[in-house]
Amino acid sequence: MTASPRHFLEIPDLDGGELRGLLARAARLKAGQEGRDRPLAGTTLALIFRKSSTRTRVSFEVGIQQLGGAGIFLSDRDTQLGRGEPIMDTSRVLSGYVDGIMIRTFEHAEVEELARYASVPVINGLTDRFHPCQLLADLLTLQEEFGTELSGLRVAWVGDGNNMAHSWLNAAYRLGFELRLAVPEGFDPDPELVRRAASAAPVHLVRDPREAVEGAHAVNTDVWASMGQEGESEARRDALRRYQVDATLMALAAPEAIFLHCLPAHRGEEVSAEVIDGPQSRIYREAENRLHAQKALLLELLT
Ligand code: CP
Ligand code: NVA
Repeated sequence: MTASPRHFLEIPDLDGGELRGLLARAARLKAGQEGRDRPLAGTTLALIFRKSSTRTRVSFEVGIQQLGGAGIFLSDRDTQLGRGEPIMDTSRVLSGYVDGIMIRTFEHAEVEELARYASVPVINGLTDRFHPCQLLADLLTLQEEFGTELSGLRVAWVGDGNNMAHSWLNAAYRLGFELRLAVPEGFDPDPELVRRAASAAPVHLVRDPREAVEGAHAVNTDVWASMGQEGESEARRDALRRYQVDATLMALAAPEAIFLHCLPAHRGEEVSAEVIDGPQSRIYREAENRLHAQKALLLELLT
């Protein structure tokens, strides 16, 4: 019997030591100290996108190519998956061709099903529930700014209790840093994820954005309507209006605080242009770090 493959569907799929090791590797890859010898030569990664993407698609395609392998972009528009072919069949068939599968889709259960039937590693490139690859990049950005010991940091989340908020909860659970989430009533993250994170780290769910941001080293937000929620945009804008990260809010954070956003962003909604385009913003470095962090992940899972 062959050993079951290693998947990355959510942050806790790596333990704290593995996560720290992966971030260290990402830093070495970024510095050009590793990965120059085409370590993934002959390796192929399928990239299934059932939702739009700029960063995830390009960083995975470029990343595998830089490591000597190849990526195959598969969209709903031109695969049988988009016409309703079962996940099980897709998973088993692709497993016969490629060495790994990255998938971006709506329901998290679909990624779990794909992984259940795959004989190659499956990577979650975003679901309605989690966006773990983004967190790898965000943690790398925090390390570059504040050093590798992340457990002493205070991180603020302001806005919707969405897939990114869930992923921050999972990162706090694994690494132990303080996380304060300010979320309006009705938009709370999954209480089970809050409970689990709070069992391992100082995690607080509050209603007042000022309470979350006070003294924080990093202030994070994300769009108020995620992919698939476009029809709720107006109602969400009304409910989340008080949760914009603007200069007044940012001033409550630590003096050395940075602003993070996974992008795409809506200036004037969840964040003011002054903050996202200002000196504390690290959004472009954060986006670049997707490439380095995912190269480390690919090396971890595919070799
Ligand atoms: N942050 C992120 O995942 O961006 P894309 O939707 O462009 O991939
Ligand atoms: N929460 C956003 C993140 C996009 C990268 C979404 O799911 O659309």
